[in-house]
Amino acid sequence: MSEFVEVRDLGSHVGSTVTVRGWVEATRSHGKVAFVDVRDGTGVVQGVVVKKAVAPEVWDAHAALAQEGTVAATGVIREEPRAPGGYEMGVTGLDILSSADEYPIQPKDHGVDFLLDHRHLWLRSSLQRAGLRVRHEVEQAIHDFLYQRDFVRIDTPILTGSIGEHAGTLFETDYFGEPAFLAQTGQLYVEAACPAFRRVYCFGPTFRAEKSKTRRHLTEFWMVEPEVAFADSDDNMRLQEDFVCYVVARALDRCREELKVLERDTSRLEAITAPFPRLSYTEAVDILRSGGSEIQWGSDLGAPDEVALTEGRDKPLFVYNYPREAKAFYMKENPDDPRTVLCNDLLAPEGYGEIIGGSQREDDLERLRERIRGQGLPEEAYGWYLDLRRFGSFPHSGFGLGVERTVAWITGRHHIRELIPFPRLMNRLFP
Ligand code: 4AD
Ligand code: MG
Repeated sequence: MSEFVEVRDLGSHVGSTVTVRGWVEATRSHGKVAFVDVRDGTGVVQGVVVKKAVAPEVWDAHAALAQEGTVAATGVIREEPRAPGGYEMGVTGLDILSSADEYPIQPKDHGVDFLLDHRHLWLRSSLQRAGLRVRHEVEQAIHDFLYQRDFVRIDTPILTGSIGEHAGTLFETDYFGEPAFLAQTGQLYVEAACPAFRRVYCFGPTFRAEKSKTRRHLTEFWMVEPEVAFADSDDNMRLQEDFVCYVVARALDRCREELKVLERDTSRLEAITAPFPRLSYTEAVDILRSGGSEIQWGSDLGAPDEVALTEGRDKPLFVYNYPREAKAFYMKENPDDPRTVLCNDLLAPEGYGEIIGGSQREDDLERLRERIRGQGLPEEAYGWYLDLRRFGSFPHSGFGLGVERTVAWITGRHHIRELIPFPRLMNRLFP
């Protein structure tokens, strides 16, 4: 065997004999010439085996290749504009490193349940690779944007004693005889870190026992939650705008190939520039009602409402100042209309719906206590949180962006379950 190289580096080995190690994506044989596509995790290279040019054992090895078996292919690299990646290998040696059983995933319509059952293998396929690489880029962009703006990352606990959002969707577990919950949000903890670092964020898995089987719900999803001291609801929306624009631009800049594989219409992403249009909740309800909806002022917007509001729009849409009953306990009362709270959702275009929920936080001790009681939450679990209003309260705002929903929108995939490596759904805990 010759020098081991990775497919992404083939361009600097044109004319030399090298060895690529990877997995057999496909084979084809046309009598005297045979092909093997080897995927090594950095790319795919087509190997060409010419019967009369190779030793008989190499030709036989090609015939014995199994789909998704592991192989070391040796040969001369040459430029080939028609090959994916631009290079191909004139194979002179084929070493089967590990064979494979009959591969369950074939180029045909399997049905999504079958594919999800085989998620540990499905990850290898080109659409899934493209989607998850965009996710990787989005996550890195999130960290980079916040780092550039001097945010300090605070890792918040996953096991918690205080309910972060609302009681309805909690995963409860036994914590040495005490009830504990899997975090629905890291928000309460980043709020605590604000007086220490001013601009903070957490980024991690969050858990909701959602009994909904929709394209937008996972029971475990990743959320980034920035929190900023002395920022009001308006500052908060401006930050969200810049943040989303940055993330989309990064995907456009660094994931061109992947977006092509995904057949994403990138002109839709190029249209994502600040500022984003804004509607108050009250205006949104008026628009929906004049369009024939029976929504009543006071109820939360459902997925169909969000789709209707964003229809025909190129950019994400802010809907701000929802009724207090529709939202979580920590949102600040709107001084201009106490029926509402200072908050916003950000609705992605093309039917993707809410990707961000954000708000200014209630910084008044008594009002916050009332909200906790009013929502039937156990006050004793919030002593520490109320302390934040006792020891130097301050206006502050923050938001949470759901990674899978954002990546589903950017990649144009229908269901968010494809944009997390191992989705957790109401009826799915394996693989
Ligand atoms: O609107 P949510 O519930 O807001 C919070 O959790 C706040 N604590 C955030 C904050 O202010 N720090 O959730 C925020 C986002 C949603 O907009 C959505 O993108 C995503 O989290 N999300 C989900 N994603 C997938 N599956 C689910 N079940 C989700 N629930 C929320
Ligand atoms: Mg929300």
